[in-house]
Amino acid sequence: MQIEFDGKVALIVGAAQGIGFATATELRNSGAKVAVADINGEAALAAASRLAGDDTEKLGVQADISSMDSVEAMVAEVTSQLGAPDIVIISAALLDDKLFLDSGPKDWQRIIDVCLYGPMNVLHSVLPGMTERGFGRIICMASDSARVGQARLSYYAAAKGGVIALIKSVAQEVGPSGVTLNVVSPGATDTELRQAREAQTKEAIGEERYAARTKKVVRMYPAGRIGLPQDHASMITYLASEQASWVTGQVISVNGGFVMP
Ligand SMILES: NC(=O)c1ccc[n+]([C@@H]2O[C@H](COP(=O)([O-])OP(=O)(O)OC[C@H]3O[C@@H](n4cnc5c(N)ncnc54)[C@H](O)[C@@H]3O)[C@@H](O)[C@H]2O)c1
Repeated sequence: MQIEFDGKVALIVGAAQGIGFATATELRNSGAKVAVADINGEAALAAASRLAGDDTEKLGVQADISSMDSVEAMVAEVTSQLGAPDIVIISAALLDDKLFLDSGPKDWQRIIDVCLYGPMNVLHSVLPGMTERGFGRIICMASDSARVGQARLSYYAAAKGGVIALIKSVAQEVGPSGVTLNVVSPGATDTELRQAREAQTKEAIGEERYAARTKKVVRMYPAGRIGLPQDHASMITYLASEQASWVTGQVISVNGGFVMP
């Protein structure tokens, strides 16, 4: 199967690094015009400049997904520079590694703002144009922590569970319009997000225990390794394609077999 995006406009939010950047690279290499959006504006510009193509085919833009004003400004800038987005990937997220009883409302608020209100802001901004034009692909990243729970990530997992319910519900509302919405649910994947959490764990438990723990974690993955950003970029590219027009409202775990919900 050959996937070609043929000048379609893809907006990837949270794309300065990690899964978002791997996806931006894949979509650009498959012919999409790509906007790299991130809360870190400098990193977004630098990431866009690393993609193939000239300025008419790619763009770096600063945006905070948790703010509706910022999201609307981002969509307006992408539309004026590259065209209205046909494909939107929501990869932005934050983690907070804490026991629930050691956390409080301030901790919950920031995670819910970014991980649940963020996708709501983006959907609300881009869906009217997509439904009017009769085409759209939205892919939102959740997490297997939402499907099976994860100690020390309770409110992040709760936000991601909300994303799954949001995407399924909106997919039902816009089904006949040619717009599909799906969720990709990663297992542990070697990105900056995970590396930061792993570094904290290593410091807390020491090198020897950390090495033993790492072996134990890998044994939990039937595929024998943790994920790479590219593993997700390949699935997202398929979901963003014309060929995936009959896939909507689905939650697809890309996780080396870690859980099989
Ligand atoms: N890496 C994993 O092990 C893993 C596991 C499960 C789920 N996920 C999910 O996959 C997605 C991508 O994860 P990743 O590992 O590539 O993360 P990452 O931290 O490497 O990249 C996320 C990007 O989002 C940006 N961002 C953060 N807050 C933002 C905001 N308010 N507005 C705009 N951008 C913002 C960050 O600056 C960063 O560039 C996330 O939704 C994450 O929850 C990742």
